[in-house]
Amino acid sequence: MVLEEFIDSLADRIVNYAKSSHDKSNKTLDFMTSYSRSKTTDLKLPLEGLGPQSVMDDIDEFLKQCVKTNRSGFMNPLWGGLNITAFAGEVISALTNQSMYTYELAPLATLIEQTIIKRMSEIIGFAEGFGTMTTGGSNGNMLGMLCARQSILPQSSKVGFNGSKYVAFVSSESHYSVLMSANVVGIGHQNVIKVACDEKGRMKSSSLEEEITRSRANGLIPFCIIATSGTTVRGAFDPLDEIATIAHSESIWLHVDAAWGGSCLFSSKKRQLMKGVELADSVCWDAHKMMGMPLICSAFIVKNAQILSSVCSHGDVAHYLFHDETKDIDLGRFSLQCGRRNDSLKLWLAWREIGDSGWAKMVDHYCELADYLEERIVAEPNLEMCSDREWTNVCFRYNDKSRADDLNQLNLEIRNRLLKEGEVIVSRSNIGDDIVLRPVISNPAVHTDIIDSLIEKVNLHALEIISDIPSSN
Ligand SMILES: Cc1ncc(COP(=O)(O)O)c(C=O)c1O
Repeated sequence: MVLEEFIDSLADRIVNYAKSSHDKSNKTLDFMTSYSRSKTTDLKLPLEGLGPQSVMDDIDEFLKQCVKTNRSGFMNPLWGGLNITAFAGEVISALTNQSMYTYELAPLATLIEQTIIKRMSEIIGFAEGFGTMTTGGSNGNMLGMLCARQSILPQSSKVGFNGSKYVAFVSSESHYSVLMSANVVGIGHQNVIKVACDEKGRMKSSSLEEEITRSRANGLIPFCIIATSGTTVRGAFDPLDEIATIAHSESIWLHVDAAWGGSCLFSSKKRQLMKGVELADSVCWDAHKMMGMPLICSAFIVKNAQILSSVCSHGDVAHYLFHDETKDIDLGRFSLQCGRRNDSLKLWLAWREIGDSGWAKMVDHYCELADYLEERIVAEPNLEMCSDREWTNVCFRYNDKSRADDLNQLNLEIRNRLLKEGEVIVSRSNIGDDIVLRPVISNPAVHTDIIDSLIEKVNLHALEIISDIPSSN
């Protein structure tokens, strides 16, 4: 197959896939166990190559079997949809295959990444902010904790670190990546102190103060607070201004995990959710969540560039890459990675296309859709909201105590049936001891009809389960 023919065939498939997002005959998810899938799909790597036609066949099979994250029924994780401009950026990034370590090898890509980081810093309120694109919010949290360690022990990156006495504070509803960060940074899970939350899932600043005092009294050394702006399950925003006051008076590094909620900063209506973010020391913000960039696209931003450069310092041993003349512009001096993808191009293209105002409209639109979903839930006699809402996470469950005694079992089964049906996919989460359904609005394809359909399906499945009618899927 000649190049043009190959690319034409590929382009046809891309167009068909993108268009099929509204195709009623298509499901969001084709439920199949991994065992059945591995038995019914040809996955083996042959001794002799199968040739270019097999590539198209394999792509067809992949497109058929993948979860259709571009469909309106995809409301499970904190991301979804297909931004075609960003997709173009992704293709061009792969086509040009730049590695972000030096200006020499990624000249324009370097300037583009710096432009993105600078703009995000300004939006956060870090006048001299600096940063790097990372592999995601998990990595951003780890960098935040590493910067905190570097700040209290500037030699630690060189001479090592005994983390057994150093403690970090997070909300009890923080993302699990903070535990992984603690592992990598060297304090271990047991030195992550989970601070109690209020009824909305926000860290209680009074409890934070108490935990810090208790830790010091026990001979421990508080070095890092990670506040969350947009928790994973409830979408709660910790009170950054109150937390920052405590962090400053106690001289503790404050990192903000805004992987999920960072986009609120675009909206004049929602920005106050992160009031005080400019008082933090570092922030991570995923553009591959609400901003709809194809995975991966995530920024880590720090107020003081020097700290990040010392965390990522490699003592100039890589003489084959880094040279003095470009030391201020080579981004490999501010990253823990060596080879690194160009994740900025897609965001830069999408941002230039719609501007800050486009992001603000997107945030407000998603919040309105989440309001609509909440109104629909509240209006249904057997559905109940399981938490107050600040963001686009909508936690609810079916509750008809007169006909079902085990609500957890009932809601678990509702979600299993939704999965098997394969049209509207929502997450199953826990709030305290309760199992809840957690749709999230973070997908441009979501509209009010699919929200109505979710409500209808949950009610229908619940009634069937209560009446002992087996699943029709
Ligand atoms: C609050 C929060 N922080 C961090 C992360 C991790 O982000 P990533 O998947 O980009 O590593 C998530 C993921 O959902 C999250 O919800």
